[in-house]
Amino acid sequence: MTFEERHFWLRRLHSLSGIVPIGGYLAFHLYENYTATRGGEAYNRMVRNLQETPFAIFLEIGIIIVPLLFHGVYGLFVTGTARPNVTSNRYVRNWMYFLQRATGVILFAFVIFHLWTTRLVNIRDHESVDLFRLMQESLQSRWIYAFYIVGILSATFHLANGIWSFSIVWGLTVGPRAQRRMIWVSAAVFLILSFIGIRSIQAFRA
Ligand code: HEM
Repeated sequence: MTFEERHFWLRRLHSLSGIVPIGGYLAFHLYENYTATRGGEAYNRMVRNLQETPFAIFLEIGIIIVPLLFHGVYGLFVTGTARPNVTSNRYVRNWMYFLQRATGVILFAFVIFHLWTTRLVNIRDHESVDLFRLMQESLQSRWIYAFYIVGILSATFHLANGIWSFSIVWGLTVGPRAQRRMIWVSAAVFLILSFIGIRSIQAFRA
């Protein structure tokens, strides 16, 4: 396989992994966290049920960690070799191109912080952690709360804009009319997921 061919397939895999499984997991993760709006007991019960899913650790590694690691590291490589052109704000697409990369870099840092402070806590006996309380306490900090808002909005924007570019890469939207219509789908995904994510994080501060 030549260098160009390998790059082509890695690019395709990177594109696909952004939707399946990472994008799908992101939507599910924001949805499950919405349980926080029903209080600590309901939230911890939901977490407990997930932890008791058969093969949970293998699913976590296979569906979340490995794809995210590949997408994130290859994404940083793509970003490092990109040629952004944001000199004129008339070109909305150039801005979207830039923001896709900027939110990717923010997400890389945010996901490491998020995993470190929630999933790797008390790793030997993680099931005994009161995650609702842990989140409540850490979100008392104005900085951490602000970082969560930025992290959630970066994730929802990155996925929504990614759906738009994914549809072009995979030939689902051919031509300007189909691509214009797809903007509405992306905008709806952004608004709905952002609402769910922000409402959930606010629930820990209520
Ligand atoms: C919540 C986690 C993430 C989700 C749901 C996600 C989702 C997506 C989606 C759906 C795409 C569109 C694929 C396409 O254009 O065909 C994409 C593209 C991209 N992602 Fe992510 N991503 C995530 C994290 C990251 C991270 C951590 C980085 C690291 C920098 C990153 C960097 C990129 C880049 C550079 C692109 C553009 C690729 C291109 O235009 O060729 N992403 N992502």
